[in-house]
Amino acid sequence: MIAVFCGTAFAQAQEEQPRKHGILFVAFGSSMPEGQVAIDAMESAVQRAYPGTEIRTAFTSRIIMRKLAKEENRIVDEPAIALAKMAYEGFTDVAVVSTHVIPGAEYQDLEAVVDGFKLMHERGTKAGFHSIALSKPLLSDGHDIERLAQVLEHTYADDLKDGAVVLIGHGTHHFADAAYSALQTVLWQKSPNFFFGAVEGVMTYDNVLANLKRTKLRKVTVAPAMLVAGDHAANDIGGDEPDSWKSLLTAEGYKVTPKPRGLGEIEGVQRLYIEKLREAWGENQPK
Ligand code: CO
Repeated sequence: MIAVFCGTAFAQAQEEQPRKHGILFVAFGSSMPEGQVAIDAMESAVQRAYPGTEIRTAFTSRIIMRKLAKEENRIVDEPAIALAKMAYEGFTDVAVVSTHVIPGAEYQDLEAVVDGFKLMHERGTKAGFHSIALSKPLLSDGHDIERLAQVLEHTYADDLKDGAVVLIGHGTHHFADAAYSALQTVLWQKSPNFFFGAVEGVMTYDNVLANLKRTKLRKVTVAPAMLVAGDHAANDIGGDEPDSWKSLLTAEGYKVTPKPRGLGEIEGVQRLYIEKLREAWGENQPK
């Protein structure tokens, strides 16, 4: 790549420049301390994998960034701003960590930002990086679905023994929503007590309930299958409002236990994300 794009004097200048590696950790963001737990856990896992490399954080939710600025005086940049700052500060080889679960619309938005910075380098401008990589979402191919199912089976082994485990993802109108249907199929190969639903998309509450009713199970563990156990976990899934998954299932006669633990808090899931990062960064990662 470098040889192809940099036959200029600028390229020689770039090669003489000492390399400075950096990681940009990107999450949707959470304004809740319960949600921040998973973000911190994931960032620490990335730092342990790359102990000598500086990590910056960016969020993609403007609503959350505004809320944090207003209520906690905490400024978090969006990815484009964070990358511009890193370029200005002389980082040469950057890896952007996607914490997305599926390659949906939000991942594509991040991809577009990263592609913009790639283009700057290819055009030889001084604004870009020598290299920039973007890690893939947790579920990017069939192999990923199997590996995540294995981690979840291990994580919820005790709850699966004598009850149902209903995992609830975010879901989306985007075609990538299909990854969740595939995950449900693989989870059923692990245990007939595993159910997958989502707050948006085709994996609706009604579907999960219909599937649950075909079993004799009376105990149900509900847990988010989202990076963080934030607002959706606290309200839509385990909240006391009459339309939360917990309340609806309780009204159906189930004994419901919410487990508000984000995927980012599960060690096995952290490992899968780190593998994605190593894969994407490839030969440009710090030696
Ligand atoms: Co949402």
